[in-house]
Order: sequence, then C-alpha cells, then structure tokens
Amino acid sequence: MAQFTLPKNSKVKKGEKFAAAEGATNTKTFKVYRWDPDDDSNPRLDEYEINLDECGPMVLDALIHIKDNVDSTLTFRRSCREGICGSCAMNIDGRNTLACLKPINEVKSDVKITPLPHMPVVKDLVPDLNHAYAQYNSIEPWMKTDSPEPTKERLQSPEDAEKLNGADGKGPAGCILCFCCSTSCPSYWWNPDKFMGPAILLNAWRWITDSRDEATGERLDQLEDPFKLYRCHTIMNCTNACPKDLNPAKSVSEIKKLMVERHS
Ligand code: SF4
Ligand code: F3S
Ligand code: FES
Repeated sequence: MAQFTLPKNSKVKKGEKFAAAEGATNTKTFKVYRWDPDDDSNPRLDEYEINLDECGPMVLDALIHIKDNVDSTLTFRRSCREGICGSCAMNIDGRNTLACLKPINEVKSDVKITPLPHMPVVKDLVPDLNHAYAQYNSIEPWMKTDSPEPTKERLQSPEDAEKLNGADGKGPAGCILCFCCSTSCPSYWWNPDKFMGPAILLNAWRWITDSRDEATGERLDQLEDPFKLYRCHTIMNCTNACPKDLNPAKSVSEIKKLMVERHS
C-alpha cells in the first residue's frame, strides 16, 4: 500500500516549554505555532504555561501577556482588541476565529494556536494576505457610477440600506476582512489562485446589491468564469466560521442567482 508522509521541512516539531512562575495555581498551557523565515528550522509548537490570574480573559490577552512577559519574539497581528479590525484572525482550538473575541475559558484543555490555515506564513501567527488583498482589489471595492454627480450625497432608502447592513446588523457591509471564512473553505484551499473565496465574494455582493452602485453588469461579467464564482460547492464552512456571524455562503448564492436570472 502507498505510504504518504509529509516532506521533512513541513513537519511541526516540539518546541520550547516555558513554565509559569513557582506558586501559580490557576494556570493554562498555550501551544503556539512558531516559524521564523530567518532560520532554517522547521516550524515548532512552543508551550507557554500562563498564570491566568495575571492575564485578561481572551486568547489575545494571553498572547499579549506572553509577548510582554515571557517571549518578546512571538509575532502576531492585532489592533482594536474588540472584533473590529480583523487583524487577530488565527486558528484557535481547531477553529478559525478572532483571538480578541475568543474567551480562554471556552477551551477546556490546552489552547492550541496556529496561523489561519492554507495561507503562506510571514512569521509565527502572521499569515501573508497579499494574494487575498490582490483578489479584493480585483473586485473594485468602491462605488462606481456613470450618472451625473448629485448636488448632495447619493441617497438610499432604509430598505436598500438594509440590504447592506442586514435587519440584524449582519449584512455584508459588516465584513471586517479577517479571512476566517476563506481559509475555512476547502474550495479555496484547492484553488486559491483562481477561486475568489467567500470573503471576496461576500464583498463583491456588497457592491452588487448596493442601490447606489451602477456597475452591476460589469461586476457580474467580471465574476462569470468557471473558477472565480462557481468553485463554491456550497460546503458552508465559511458561514460557520465567520466570527461576525455574517453569511458569506448566502452572498455567494445570491450572486449565482443573479447570474441565472440575467441569462434567462
Ligand atoms: Fe471575516 Fe466574516 Fe468577512 Fe469572512 S465574511 S472575512 S469571516 S468578517
Ligand atoms: Fe466554500 Fe462557503 Fe462555498 S465554504 S464552497 S464558499 S459555501
Ligand atoms: Fe481587531 Fe481582534 S484585534 S479584531
């Protein structure tokens, strides 16, 4: 029988262990993915035992505590600390989510933290988002109009605004571009170069459905391709992963519906 093994340089090794200070009783271990492009070593999982009495309640608090007090070389992105900027997206306990919104006490055993899956890694927990942002740029995520500029702002009815914001505040305009959804999608893992992935398609839908935008036909033409849109096979991981409770799978299906309608 054929045997498959990972190439040597992609095996994750055991890393260093950092124990909590003597006397700490309320401790938790964080197993954190480490990889440095400047040395030739394989990635490793370092283990940090943290005194939870000295650290805030969220996984991001633990990472900041480690960086400030234990190991300043640990690298991760973060900014807002309240689920707004999307920069702290990573895989925690097997799920893509935002470290600043993930309570430590929701993880019953050790907390395993790795970068968003299937993205190149810049260092440690920092994924390389250049390709994802190039795809975002390709959908021209700004309002496009041909009609003469109005004297005041371009108005929109409350019903039309609701298409963007959602009746429950969970419409496509709420996307924070964290890429938890795209990096949960097997179709995106398999075809990241050609398939746009749910994050970008949700944002494409955000502009297609905007009553003030006048480039709907052009936007649909741009997505009409065997890969860009149609590699979505309704797997639904994207919607399950979104930490903002948005529904990228629905946005993809709305675009597909519009494609059918314009050809019928
Ligand atoms: Fe993140 Fe949700 Fe936007 Fe996907 S749809 S990028 S998971 S906020
Ligand atoms: Fe992927 Fe979501 Fe479609 S997980 S296959 S984009 S429904
Ligand atoms: Fe901004 Fe987590 S730090 S979303």
